[in-house]
This record gives sequence, structure tokens and C-alpha cells, in this order.
Amino acid sequence: VNDTANAVPVATPTSNVALDLAEIDWDNIGFGFIPTDYMYIMKCSQGENFSNGELHRFGNIELSPSAGILNYGQGLFEGLKAYRKHDGNILLFRPKENAFRLRTGAERMCMPSPSVEQFLEAVKLTVLANERWIPPPGKGSLYIRPLLMGSGAVLGLAPAPEYTFLIYVSPVGNYFKEGLAPINLIVETEMHRATPGGTGGVKTIGNYAAVLKAQSAAKAKGFSDVLYLDSVHKRYLEEVSSCNVFVVKGNVISTPAIKGTILPGITRKSIIDVARSQGFQVEERFVTVDELLDADEVFCTGTAVVISPVGSITYLGKRVTYGSEGVGVVSQQLYSSLTSLQMGRAEDKMGWIVEL
Ligand code: COI
Repeated sequence: VNDTANAVPVATPTSNVALDLAEIDWDNIGFGFIPTDYMYIMKCSQGENFSNGELHRFGNIELSPSAGILNYGQGLFEGLKAYRKHDGNILLFRPKENAFRLRTGAERMCMPSPSVEQFLEAVKLTVLANERWIPPPGKGSLYIRPLLMGSGAVLGLAPAPEYTFLIYVSPVGNYFKEGLAPINLIVETEMHRATPGGTGGVKTIGNYAAVLKAQSAAKAKGFSDVLYLDSVHKRYLEEVSSCNVFVVKGNVISTPAIKGTILPGITRKSIIDVARSQGFQVEERFVTVDELLDADEVFCTGTAVVISPVGSITYLGKRVTYGSEGVGVVSQQLYSSLTSLQMGRAEDKMGWIVEL
């Protein structure tokens, strides 16, 4: 987008005022894209630093057909959320963690990245400019989608000569159509999400294209999503297409360790801390697929899914169910603790909330 005439002035936060909301059906937002008013764009050339980012009216962007992102998938994305607190103020959940993760991913993908400060400033500007799209308390959140892409033209395989950092937002409700009801997963035994030494541990766009085939097949059979196994032993749990996985047995909560093939989820990391603060023993380790058989509960975590309880898992034709397919006690407890923090209903002892 070259049209700087559309750049808008900096917005300021409002609090304790009647909400000026966009006119949509706030009771029925799922996880579909709803265009909003503004997006943020900042560019830089290879070898230089990002600068002069600004807000633009939301709209399509122009790219060369030869852009690195289109031809060779040189791109990363992030996901975080803004919540509206009961007093009208706006809360971000751990945005610095997304800034750090983007920088780590950019290094892996040979891309320059915005500084942590630039990232935070850009997120705040974009959220405030789209304030009327932040759902009322309890109705959902504003999903913030930063993108970092090789936007310059290349033909031979090489890092692109120019990069674009863009943020757009969309109001969202529940990720899975089940809402908060338990989801049904199938363990994928043929296809894999990531391989050792690959890019499974960073949020590159290609990781998500790679899961579509197994996910579509699973959905066609009535499952909510796919649980992946490691590609070497085909025995250890990795993650679900769009989220991390946790297995509960008694007081012990286990989750696959971060070892390069698993996305280091910010909700994952937060749940580990919240669970430990509540007296659970949390283990980050190799978790075998067999452990699903005698688990008390299984749940998924992610920015988009928050905490999603799992009602059943099907593996090699056998179906294991959890919690009589209702929400398990531990999943419910952790969900309530996390969302109370995110929505500003509980004291933020961890220092995770950024209030705008
Ligand atoms: C998120 O949870 O924010 C993600 O990036 C996953 C995406 C597939 C919606």
C-alpha cells in the first residue's frame, strides 16, 4: 500500500464512557474474518531497520507476483488478543511475548523484524484505531494478527529484498464451532506437521498450510481437528493443527516439551505458570500417545482456542473419551483462571496484562 493519504492520526484510549460499538451481531461472532477500519503497515529493505510505520484504512494490499511471500513462503504471523474490561478499558495479554517470538521466527526465516518497542507501539495503535470493533465484555475479543513477510520481488531462491510488517484485527468469539464444549480429535498417523530441524518451532505461514489436508479429512469424518505425532518415532504427541496439547493425570499435567517441532505457545507457557501456582505438578517432556489411554483429561491451549477441553480422541480406530464428554474439572479451573486474568476480572499478580 503506497497511499499515505489514508494515514490516520493516533487514537487515544477511552474509559468509563458509553461504548461506541460497530454494528454487528455481538452475540454471534465465531472465528471468521470481519473487516475492521484500520491496519498498520511498516516496511524495510533487506539489511535495514523497519521505520515510518503508520495506520492505513483497512483494505487490500498490492504485491508483486514475484514477492518472496507468494513464491517461497517467506513469512511469519502472530496472534494475540485485546479484551474490553468491564470498566471499558482495553487489555492486551502478554504482547511482548509475541514481539519476542516474532523476532526469533524472523531470524529463522532470514527476515528483518521490528524491534519489541515498534511491535508494541504498532499493536497499540492498531487496537485503538479499531476500538469500536472490540467486543463488549464477555462477548469475545479483538484478535490481532501481525504479519511479517518478504514483500520484495525475487525469482531465484533467496531472501526477499524488501519486507512488510502489517497488523490487521478482527473481532472474534469461540474458535471451534463446539464453543466451550469438548472437541473430538483424531490422531494423524501418516502426515506430520513438522520435522526435526524444520520450522515447526516458529510461526511461519507454511506450517499452517501443511496441516490443511489432514485437518480437512478429519473434519469430513466429523472430528474437530487433528492431533499430530512426532515424525521420527510416530509415538510422541506434538500438537493440534492450531494449538498445543496438555494431558492431565491426577495432580500431574504433562505437555510436549518445546524441542524445535512444537510451537512455543504463549497460552501454553501461561497455563504452565498458572497450573504450577495452583499446586499442580507440570511436566514438559516427551508424552507418548499411549498416555492418552489412561489420562483423566486432555485439553488444548492457544491464543485463538484459549483452552479447549477434549471430549474424545480417536487413535488407530479406537476412541477414548474424557470426563463423560463434559468439561473436565482441571480444564474448567484453568480456563476460568486464565480468562479472568485476560478479561481483567482477577488481579494480575503475574504482570501479564497491558492496559491501554
Ligand atoms: C492463534 O492461536 O493465535 C493461532 O495463531 C492459530 C491460528 C491457526 C488461528
